[in-house]
Amino acid sequence: MINFQALGEKYNTPLYLYDFNHITTRYNTLKEAFRAKKSLICYAVKANSNLSVIKHLADLGAGCDCVSIGEVRRAFLAGVANYKIIFSGVGKRDEEIKEAIKKDILMINLESEAELLRVEAKAKELGKVARISIRVNPNIDPKTHPYISTGLNSNKFGVDIDDAKRMYIKAKNSSFLDPVGIHFHIGSQLTELEPIRESSEIVADLVRSLKVLDINIKFFDIGGGLGIKYKDETLITPYDYAQAIFGTLQSLDVTILCEPGRFLVGESGYFLTKVLYEKQNGDKRFVIVDGAMNDLIRPALYGSFHEVEVLNDSENESLADIVGPVCESGDFFAKNLSLKETKTGDLIVIKAAGAYCFTMSSNYNTRGKVAEVAIEDGKDRLIRRRESFEDLIELEKEYLK
Ligand code: LLP
Repeated sequence: MINFQALGEKYNTPLYLYDFNHITTRYNTLKEAFRAKKSLICYAVKANSNLSVIKHLADLGAGCDCVSIGEVRRAFLAGVANYKIIFSGVGKRDEEIKEAIKKDILMINLESEAELLRVEAKAKELGKVARISIRVNPNIDPKTHPYISTGLNSNKFGVDIDDAKRMYIKAKNSSFLDPVGIHFHIGSQLTELEPIRESSEIVADLVRSLKVLDINIKFFDIGGGLGIKYKDETLITPYDYAQAIFGTLQSLDVTILCEPGRFLVGESGYFLTKVLYEKQNGDKRFVIVDGAMNDLIRPALYGSFHEVEVLNDSENESLADIVGPVCESGDFFAKNLSLKETKTGDLIVIKAAGAYCFTMSSNYNTRGKVAEVAIEDGKDRLIRRRESFEDLIELEKEYLK
């Protein structure tokens, strides 16, 4: 049991808390599910890029899936080995490509033919061979929120099967590219297995047809996307997930790469916020808290639901919106939720806040980013200090005329 009250007092609010033991369990469950084959779990750093979170997963054996050179640098800093780092993303700058090649990471994931030519040119400049994979867009509807759906031709991600094949042939014929991997990722917060299985089938067929051309894919990257519990979702179990993938690979001798973000860290996280006051506008009840959309934007951005718990022993409940101090009507954590009566200083816990919460936070309204705390084996420790006003103006003040 996490003592939110004590932690709220010790570190102040708003605050992110991450249960590292929970992350360990999630990692082990997934790794175990893939035990029958060679596998590498490359944690999707974008979900929660705190160095201590990355290090915790690296210590368990995880690699990293990165989408910027900043994330690659974080992975290195946290002690992830170069041969466990992959660099994905729909657009990469020349400097990023060069640094990734120099750092000799496992592979750079290409998302277009133009990018292939770019990476080839940079590898040539450096006199090196770049290991690459190609992100295939299987054109499958993943049945998730449109903003986090990525496997349809109407999305900007990856290339279709025919283009991928052409690109593999180009890569094979290049002295500066080594096509070692293949990749697909059809979306995030997936709760249906069939679209993943179908995509895997399509991509595995492509691997087989590449083999005929003497292009031997070693890493079969199934992306991330496993959904977690925010409300009452029926979830895909890691076992069923792994079995579905195995079923599409049959005799293929590949290492399965998997890039989960949310699954590993999402449910480990809690956002702790304090009630400032309540207010009634006509019939409407608002609970105003010290956290805001700049700290946790998922409800405002996607209309996402996060379970909420009010830490007091009031027995009176009525419908309310939980809102923050930011000057936007979209600044809410919950709407029309049956909520206990609150008073100033009461703590509210917002759950499943370990993924895409802190990492998507901003300084909007000159609000400093909040502190992050890890809890492990009953002990708590600060893993990122709260930003101060000084931090916020640091990069501007010398230019003030
Ligand atoms: N691999 C690739 C290529 C990705 O684009 C993503 C997520 C992942 C792996 C990790 O997906 P996960 O296992 O976490 O579902 N901000 C949104 C989620 C955006 C996901 C972007 N890509 C949210 O708050 O729901």
